[in-house]
Amino acid sequence: MLTRREFTGLGAALFGAAGLRLPIWRGGLRAVSGPTASSERPLLLGVDYYPDQTPEALWEEDARMMSEAGLTNVRVAEFAWSLMEPSEGKFDFAWLKRSVDILHKHGIAVILGTPSAAPPPWLTEKYPEVLMVNSEGMTVHPGGRRFTCPSNKTYRKLSLAIATEMARNFSDTAGVIGWQIDNEFTLQQFGRCYCKYCREGFQEWSKQKYETLDSLNQKWGTAFWSQIYTDWSQIPVPLPSNGPPNPGLELDYDRYQSHANASFAGEQLVMLRKQCPHHFVTTNSVGAPFDSLNLRELFRDLDFVSNDNYPGFAAMFMEGEITPERIGRSSAISHDSMRSVKGGKPFLIMEEQSGKAGQPSFGPQPHPGQLRLWAFQAVAHGAMGVNYFRWDTARFGAEEYWHGLLNHDRSKSPGFDEIIRTVADMKALGQEALESSYVAETALSFDQDCDWALQIQPGHSKLTYPAQLMEWYDAVAGANTGTDLIHLDEDLSRYKAVFAPVQYVVSARQAENIRNYVRNGGMFVAGFRLGAKDESSQIVNMPLPGLLRDVMGVTLKDYVPIYSEKVGVAFEQQLAGPEGQCGLWADLLIPQSAKVLAKYTGPYEGAAITVNTFGKGKAVYIGADLDGASLSRVIHSLLETAGSKSEFGTPKAVEITRRRAGQKEWVFALNHSNEAQKVTLPGAFASVMAKRSVERELELKPYEVAVLQRS
Ligand code: GLA
Ligand code: ZN
Repeated sequence: MLTRREFTGLGAALFGAAGLRLPIWRGGLRAVSGPTASSERPLLLGVDYYPDQTPEALWEEDARMMSEAGLTNVRVAEFAWSLMEPSEGKFDFAWLKRSVDILHKHGIAVILGTPSAAPPPWLTEKYPEVLMVNSEGMTVHPGGRRFTCPSNKTYRKLSLAIATEMARNFSDTAGVIGWQIDNEFTLQQFGRCYCKYCREGFQEWSKQKYETLDSLNQKWGTAFWSQIYTDWSQIPVPLPSNGPPNPGLELDYDRYQSHANASFAGEQLVMLRKQCPHHFVTTNSVGAPFDSLNLRELFRDLDFVSNDNYPGFAAMFMEGEITPERIGRSSAISHDSMRSVKGGKPFLIMEEQSGKAGQPSFGPQPHPGQLRLWAFQAVAHGAMGVNYFRWDTARFGAEEYWHGLLNHDRSKSPGFDEIIRTVADMKALGQEALESSYVAETALSFDQDCDWALQIQPGHSKLTYPAQLMEWYDAVAGANTGTDLIHLDEDLSRYKAVFAPVQYVVSARQAENIRNYVRNGGMFVAGFRLGAKDESSQIVNMPLPGLLRDVMGVTLKDYVPIYSEKVGVAFEQQLAGPEGQCGLWADLLIPQSAKVLAKYTGPYEGAAITVNTFGKGKAVYIGADLDGASLSRVIHSLLETAGSKSEFGTPKAVEITRRRAGQKEWVFALNHSNEAQKVTLPGAFASVMAKRSVERELELKPYEVAVLQRS
């Protein structure tokens, strides 16, 4: 996976005419809520559609075919700025209006996208200062997308202007139901700009945050390498400077960039609330572990979260190592993270893979059944609707290889019939199920501060937060008892166990929240590097694990990055089992009040895993970077102790999730493999889609999905 620090653009530095500062740090957007009680919203089982790229003579046929296929809606126009505003201030929505009218005539509702992810050439020619500057200090060229600055006032003004004109033109147009602001703010490698406007915005944001330079100098530790700032205007952005940047500054810069993007979206949101009070407003994101922004901030005032789901990417990027379970897991973590952004509220799949997918190379052809499985998996994890990307397949442009429901020659794609059947089955499942709540017995911390701080200073050249998160998620989610991806300052009391891999940064508020959770009977399981840093990215001035020493009942004798030596882990007590291996890191634990559950077998001394009874609960410290099999075994044993054990007996390739509305429960059984699998059932169930009853055992065909209700 590319990180933004590995991503380098090319181009000449270009610092254009001065843009004005914006008070975007104030976060002063009104708390705005939308009109979208679910009863007012139609089902959202549609496609992403590009009338802007399709001859008008085909629009009627498109709408008719969509309607015949049972689709309910489209998303349009998110990349159509150059058609909607062919020159500055000259707007043309007549074509879009004709398209919306045709769609509406055929009963297809419309979600409009505001087009700020890709400005037209006239704009960047006239205002080159809007271009993003990348982490190498090079100005990014126009011609792709997501190449503009989130802080630049000119770009904000022009983006808001086109969005406002759109809103005015479509606020009362029959068939229009909602909005997507921009497109994928959070796509990992493009989520940062380092231009002079961002620098000015960062200086102002820092002033708001720290109030005095003394306080900022202290929190960032600027005495180191002679960095004491005596004027706010001296504060730099973390561009190459022949030495690593100040870690406190860089972590704050990540937070500022997140804030700049959220407030960019916020400007359009405030306008849309005013112009279109009856429409819902959302934006689309990509889910863990790829998101580069703080999604809680981005989605705070939006009506619901939208996610883009391309499981085929996993197969492309993990070529050779990929298993069906891993493809399934990589989408599951994304869904779980997106659902958790708004406390479990149902989310929308704004883009769902509909065939071979790829941008200059084709990814693998989904096997028969996989497209259905992946869409149902999203629903199984809390989605309320699915829009397939895309209706037709582009014959030009950078995504000619991204297959839609229609082939290049407009014949039906290999997945067409399967998709249509899936949509029909989702409709039959009904709104109550699609809007029900996901059942999660456990939670995993997904903390952007830890992710960012670890990118800045990994501590070990191979240590990455996404890889650790994924390993832990794999083990926790494998229990099939449902997992939310939360922040540790949220309400933890509803979970039987809370897991926190590399919780490197711990705030005082989080520590207190964890302390109360464990005291009241919860199980908290932390990985190595726990509490090493405070929120300013300073190492804590106390023995590790810092603020959580009392809860964990241990102190660290030392911490050890591991390179070529072999370090074994011997398990004891309730974890007794085959010896494990410690990978990249070993925290050497000295129990204070805790009991030892595993020790290092050398060359280092100390406990590797401990458990502490604290109040009515338990706190487990996994100090070793355990190999996958051992981690999974340990986590499953801890889950059983915490009373989180699935009633369903499943092979590895089968995933079980549950959704609930009042007394009703839907159990989703998903076979991610291309072989038949058997699931043991705790009683008699009705298999909703197969329309039959099943007892004791459920047989799933390759890639089959079953939805069960207790009979
Ligand atoms: C993303 C974007 C779409 C399209 C698809 C496929 O999710 O939002 O515009 O590019 O990927 O590449
Ligand atoms: Zn910028």
